[in-house]
Amino acid sequence: MSENKSKNIVWHESRVDRKTRGEIFKQTGATLWFTGLSGSGKSTLAFTLEHLLIHKGYNSYVLDGDNIRHGLNSNLGFSDSDREENIRRVGEVSKLFADSGTIILSSFISPFSQDRQLVREIHEKNELPFIEIYLDTPLSTCEERDPKNLYAKARRGEIKNFTGIDSPYEVPTNPELIISSANSPEVSANTIFDYLVDQQILDLPE
Ligand code: ADX
Repeated sequence: MSENKSKNIVWHESRVDRKTRGEIFKQTGATLWFTGLSGSGKSTLAFTLEHLLIHKGYNSYVLDGDNIRHGLNSNLGFSDSDREENIRRVGEVSKLFADSGTIILSSFISPFSQDRQLVREIHEKNELPFIEIYLDTPLSTCEERDPKNLYAKARRGEIKNFTGIDSPYEVPTNPELIISSANSPEVSANTIFDYLVDQQILDLPE
């Protein structure tokens, strides 16, 4: 982790504790971390779940890799060290959202176990739920879908360091949930919704 260059800074505590926040909002803030290859369905599933949650009255928000790279992380590319910094930053942002009481849906390839582990630890240190969701979609399926025509470009050598082609993806060894590409996004979103109720992250209305 990078050295903290900020000196002479003091932490201010909120006047609202987490329990009170949860009781008022009827949900506990949590980070759901969607990881998998480009084209594996992470963002489609995250946006489907966001839609489901909001329509059921819960506060949720998607942080999406492509979107975040338009703004906050527009100064990062796809080298290993830029991906590490990408994940560190969005991990910290996810933690803040989760602390605010939001169900945050973070959708990033996040190819390196060590970087995902760091985000998990940031959450554990802050006693916030971190749920790693692996989109187990085979490379051949992602490549067939190729929604952004990026695999074709990578195969032609027009994009370097493309995950799954000439840059690695480390499969999660112990994710909380594994999502098969055999299920529709709607079915998978409902599976995750039920998991959140089970984990008491969402309070169902009486
Ligand atoms: S990560 O590896 O740093 O986690 P992130 O999820 O933010 O990646 O961004 C991935 C998206 O960037 C892909 O879905 C794809 O649209 C685009 N992209 C552009 N170049 C690459 C590349 N070399 N490898 C993977 N994705 C790329």
